Amino acid sequence: MSNIILIGMMGSGKSTLSHQLKKMTGYKIIDCDDLIENHENLLIKEIFSLYGEKHFRKLESDFLNDFNDDECIISTGGGMILSAENRLRLKSLGTVFYLSGSVVTLYNRLLDQTSERPLLEKEALHNQLSELLEKRSDLYLEASDYVISIDSKTTDEVCTEIYTILRELDYIFSV
Ligand code: S3P
Repeated sequence: MSNIILIGMMGSGKSTLSHQLKKMTGYKIIDCDDLIENHENLLIKEIFSLYGEKHFRKLESDFLNDFNDDECIISTGGGMILSAENRLRLKSLGTVFYLSGSVVTLYNRLLDQTSERPLLEKEALHNQLSELLEKRSDLYLEASDYVISIDSKTTDEVCTEIYTILRELDYIFSV
């Protein structure tokens, strides 16, 4: 399948980038968090507080297993790669790009956005990001086909980098 899959930590720019990539490729955006929120009629933070993280992870995996479309840009939640099954499934759906950023980059981007994110608190943000990244780095690497560094780059630069790879892979675009 020739989907474009974006993985990476919260704050790595998956959603913003997916909109930019849509303009360049004409592909549809599939935002996993948005679709889960719409399906459950609850915000992610409400799902976490009412039913817990485990339940949310199950919803993520269910979504991924049911997904059966092509020519989409799939913007995943940062923890989608936690399950080994999800990591395999993502690769089977297309080309997986890991948007890799340092703790400092992520910290600066997320400082004003902690209230929407159940796993982060403003006061402890730096430590929480370090811990999550430490736990997840290898999983992001394992799940990805390409690692794209986002440090000191604009969205346009990251987008062009991904677009160039996709053209080399003979992805066909309608725009
Ligand atoms: C999470 C990332 C969030 C969302 C949830 C959990 C994570 O998505 O799925 O809050 O565990 O990293 P974004 O990466 O789109 O912010």
